[in-house]
Amino acid sequence: MTPIGAIEALPLGRALRDSHTLLGAVATVHLLGVGLLFGSIVVLDLRLLGLSRSISVRRLAAHVLPWTALGFLLIVPTGLTMFVAHAGRLIASRLFALKMGLIFAGAVNAAAFHAGAFRSSPAWDTERMPPSAARAAGAISLVVWISVIVCGRMLVARIQGG
Ligand code: HEM
Repeated sequence: MTPIGAIEALPLGRALRDSHTLLGAVATVHLLGVGLLFGSIVVLDLRLLGLSRSISVRRLAAHVLPWTALGFLLIVPTGLTMFVAHAGRLIASRLFALKMGLIFAGAVNAAAFHAGAFRSSPAWDTERMPPSAARAAGAISLVVWISVIVCGRMLVARIQGG
């Protein structure tokens, strides 16, 4: 048996495939995490693009980023759990590889922003147009996370379609 076949054959995988309620519950927590991650990051991204400039970037980031982290904490274990149910088909899917690559790109973009443009944020904290590096980070983040959601939704549609 291949390693992926062994993952799919785990009792957890079988239980998830046998129970729509269980799979639905895990997917619901995954989606709550997605809502929290995307809902929190989108307001910061829009601020980085130059909207609502009366709001302090630093205070907004301090407020939303713990919620983004909590969203990720809900997403990762539930995503891995759902992976177990359909490991074979997912690992063979280019869409799944694209989704994982995009998540990596989103994390790199966030890390680069924090190590780079965010350090100079006291100079453009309120009323000023954020520098181009910050605007680029906000735009990339929006595109990447929306694309991850599209990939996730399309994967479910394909797997349910057989
Ligand atoms: C370690 C990271 C992640 C893993 C392993 C993962 C895995 C999965 C899997 C296996 C599915 C279900 C596909 C199926 O039916 O088998 C799924 C669904 C989904 N994922 Fe993820 N995911 C991860 C992160 C994310 C992130 C960061 C987002 C969005 C920001 C996201 C958005 C979605 C969406 C929207 C769905 C569709 C849910 C539904 O319609 O029920 N995922 N994910």
